[in-house]
Amino acid sequence: MKGGGRTAGQSRRWIRGLECYRANWRKIRKAAPDILNSRNFHRTRQYIQHGNVTVNDHVRDVARISLVISEKLNIRCSREELIRGALLHDYFLYDWHYPDREHPHRLHGFFHPARALKNASAEYNLTEREKDIIRKHMWPLTVALPKYKETWIVTAADKLCSLRETARLRRGHGAILEKLKQEENGETE
Ligand SMILES: [Fe+2]
Ligand SMILES: [Fe+2]
Repeated sequence: MKGGGRTAGQSRRWIRGLECYRANWRKIRKAAPDILNSRNFHRTRQYIQHGNVTVNDHVRDVARISLVISEKLNIRCSREELIRGALLHDYFLYDWHYPDREHPHRLHGFFHPARALKNASAEYNLTEREKDIIRKHMWPLTVALPKYKETWIVTAADKLCSLRETARLRRGHGAILEKLKQEENGETE
């Protein structure tokens, strides 16, 4: 049976995907209310990561995709540390597209993990896993190998999200994603 150009099977899959999306957001909100509601985390909405995607959008997506990867592949790990590390992995708190004399942001790719770790450590009692996620998420650019499964997952999710943002693949789902994001922002503000 077809409805609005979609078959019943496609509709069911779409609804399942939406439910999964919402369930993952509930997990993220539960694991990190302090981060999501903090002033500095809200500040990351002012900074662009790739294309027209803000750092705030990016890290929330990385947290969600990290959860999806860990669940689809049945990886036993600390979901709370996975989410918190993902949300803080790019906590460098500047717009790397706008260099100034004091912060030229040259080699941003190499140096921002250390800056993010410094900022995040100043505000949160980070676990060793969370520190490893932030410090090494740019591997292999940052040479040291990730030590924990959680770091490998966030590293993979980060690359996937960055690729998608750079290629602007998110555009096709813009309307529904924007609507869901607005709901999210309303609930977390
Ligand atoms: Fe990064
Ligand atoms: Fe990132």
